[in-house]
Amino acid sequence: MQSMRAVTVVTAGIVTALLLLTSCAEKEDGQEPPAAAPVVVAAAEPEIDPVTGLKMTGDWELVRGNCTACHSAKLVTQQRGTDQQWLTMIRWMQEKQNLWQFDPNTESRIIAYLSENYAPDAARRRAAIPRDLLPPNPYAADTASPN
Ligand code: HEC
Repeated sequence: MQSMRAVTVVTAGIVTALLLLTSCAEKEDGQEPPAAAPVVVAAAEPEIDPVTGLKMTGDWELVRGNCTACHSAKLVTQQRGTDQQWLTMIRWMQEKQNLWQFDPNTESRIIAYLSENYAPDAARRRAAIPRDLLPPNPYAADTASPN
């Protein structure tokens, strides 16, 4: 008699546990809304002007008007720089290459366009070759030493 009761109690316990487990699982299922796939909005790359190769965004026409009169726009688009580096290039052209002066507003818009669209990127230059991998330097004072 005693063992029958024990079996009943154990069975009841197991059933309760199973019920609890399934209800937990259901609850979990019910609670978790289907994970919404993250919407990845890639920053759209501006179109490229087929004539100059400049990125057609912002003040690109101002740059086309001021920066392609003496040389190809390729010279611009292949270059990279920060605000300061672009300004330095412009000052150099003004000093040495007859580039005209800009009013401050025009200049800052040109520089903003350039430094935003042609900013330095970290991996543009390969690392320097280690000295021991360089070819022998024929101009080295001591020709016995490789470099
Ligand atoms: C008045 C003529 C003239 C104008 C306008 C002009 N440049 Fe230049 N630029 C030159 C000359 C000349 C060179 C040297 C070309 C060469 O090395 O073959 C040069 C060279 C460059 C270089 C190469 C610099 C380097 O270190 O190799 C860049 C970049 C450049 N210009 C950007 C610009 C930008 C940006 C503008 C507009 C703000 C502009 N240029 C407008 C005359 C001009």
